[in-house]
Amino acid sequence: MEIFTDKAATRTHALSLKAQGKRVACVLTMGALHDGHLGLVRKAQTLADAVLVSIFVNPTQFGEQADLDAYPSDTDRDLSMLRAEGVDAVFLPTPDIMYPDGPDTIVNVASLSTILQGAVRPGHFQGVSTVVTKLFNILQPDVTVFGEKDFQQLAMIRKMVRDLDMPVDVQGLPIVREPDGLAMSSRNVRLTPKDRDAARVLSRSLDQAEASTVRDAETLQNLITETIAAEPRADVKSIDICDATTLAPLTGAITHPAVILLSVAFGDVLLIDNRVITP
Ligand code: PAF
Repeated sequence: MEIFTDKAATRTHALSLKAQGKRVACVLTMGALHDGHLGLVRKAQTLADAVLVSIFVNPTQFGEQADLDAYPSDTDRDLSMLRAEGVDAVFLPTPDIMYPDGPDTIVNVASLSTILQGAVRPGHFQGVSTVVTKLFNILQPDVTVFGEKDFQQLAMIRKMVRDLDMPVDVQGLPIVREPDGLAMSSRNVRLTPKDRDAARVLSRSLDQAEASTVRDAETLQNLITETIAAEPRADVKSIDICDATTLAPLTGAITHPAVILLSVAFGDVLLIDNRVITP
């Protein structure tokens, strides 16, 4: 497995794979890898001949320095996990390599970047769309796989690729969960044992909503709100029920696929989860 820190060397490597007739996939990560990331790598391997992985904790998508500083990192462990998966190469840049002139040019998916979680985390999605564009330009993927846990991120990247005619096939991978239902996330390691236990309420509330025979947005919203409110450690930031494609907020009867989006803090750890429900 090759490890690159240089942008030009990484692009040259990707282009040489393509010149050999190989289909290239990329999986973009911020490190602190867990089984969810390995799921992305494994799906990418089924779609391409060579998988390139980036590990970069992108500062421009963090609102608060404290959140950035607290982001977990264990690069040696990440690299040995990726080596064991048979990844072709890893791109491991520093912020200075990625932003030598500082962040200036911005890619903004206007209709999706400031709604929902974008309203809770101003600037976050612009940071994501900009760094993803840069990483696509460096890694030159034919195909990429993103987790469906970050539902709004995936919807935004699909739209960006469509709007900007980027020649990349964007694939989603269903949420990978711990045995007790908690969606896997690099943030989970920062939960105290009590908060880790309490955080199970997220998947439990989504299970209840999905199993309910009710398909009315307000009633489902109340059901989820009550379930989460019964957990005193949960600090609800947002509960939204939206059209699964446009992310437009829904009211009344649900007549086509909808997504329930949860954003809930436990202590200082903000967790998200979601579930697509059908009429
Ligand atoms: O989902 C993530 O880990 C990040 O937002 C991404 C896509 C790697 C961009 O920094």
